[in-house]
Amino acid sequence: MLFKQQAWLRQKLLVLGSLAVGSLLYLVARVGSLDRLQPICPIEGRLGGARSQAEFPLRALQFKRGLLHEFRKGNASKDQVRLHDLVQQLPKAIIIGVRKGGTRALLEMLNLHPAVVKASQEIHFFDNDENYGKGIEWYRKKMPFSYPQQITIEKSPAYFITEEVPERIYKMNSSIKLLIIVREPTTRAISDYTQVLEGKERKNKTYYKFEKLAIDPNTCEVNTKYKAVRTSIYTKHLERWLKYFPIEQFHVVDGDRLITEPLPELQLVEKFLNLPPRISQYNLYFNATRGFYCLRFNIIFNKCLAGSKGRIHPEVDPSVITKLRKFFHPFNQKFYQITGRTLNWP
Ligand code: A3P
Repeated sequence: MLFKQQAWLRQKLLVLGSLAVGSLLYLVARVGSLDRLQPICPIEGRLGGARSQAEFPLRALQFKRGLLHEFRKGNASKDQVRLHDLVQQLPKAIIIGVRKGGTRALLEMLNLHPAVVKASQEIHFFDNDENYGKGIEWYRKKMPFSYPQQITIEKSPAYFITEEVPERIYKMNSSIKLLIIVREPTTRAISDYTQVLEGKERKNKTYYKFEKLAIDPNTCEVNTKYKAVRTSIYTKHLERWLKYFPIEQFHVVDGDRLITEPLPELQLVEKFLNLPPRISQYNLYFNATRGFYCLRFNIIFNKCLAGSKGRIHPEVDPSVITKLRKFFHPFNQKFYQITGRTLNWP
């Protein structure tokens, strides 16, 4: 008898336990989705969509989280994707550079916005002659699926420094919005060097020290032939772009501030893109182990950038740093003047 009672009690506890776990899981999923559902609605008016507001959010959520993922994995058919009115749209905004400025962080963080859909890979359409030769349809097919009300954004940092790119982008869309993320030029050059150095080390190759590349040993002046130095002369590159686009079509993101204080930088971008403010402090949390902000989509989905973002830089001779900073100073002043954004670099 006692044994029977115990078994009954155990069974009851099991049922109650399952119910509690089930409810908890439902709540977790629901709160997570509500967090993303609610912000999507008001975008319609601004982005010119005609879809009913009640219908759009859930579908967008399915798209951003599930359907596309399933499609990529081969579990959703093209018909299913079509059923959801998904299209591959040319980008309305492009992160054109600068390499090592924080382009990946910017793209991933903007993707937190429900109206933004990122192209995951760098497409290199406008800077690569072979890709460019494949035509604009090839480029469009490289874009992710999205709803017509959403905007697609891609990033290819080489665009900023490649001669032919401004004209090619202009031919595609003369009113496109262009995002440039910059860091203090010397730090950016060292970051650029660190990436190349790591590549060499991976192949067991030796490489010059940064000092040797950045300073011309004959003149002891800054070596302007060194690509990492040239890329950091932002104003020179920007001037080429200004032959095609007015300055109003550019927005400068402070890449150093995006590291330490990402939200205000993202809010400025939302404004520039005419998007309602939807990225909040909730979406960004500081990860002490990484030493960087990471992304929170909801209480279930979090992600930090790959380990290749946020490398430790090698120590550089302070006199070389001073020399470089002095070299970049007049170019920086011009950059602030043209863009209207003063970044107070040393
Ligand atoms: P370092 O590796 O020199 O630190 P890009 O994506 O354009 O290659 O830029 C890489 C840089 O993004 C990194 O340079 C890093 O400092 C910066 N960054 C900005 N926000 C970041 C974040 N949340 N997580 C990791 N790296 C970030």
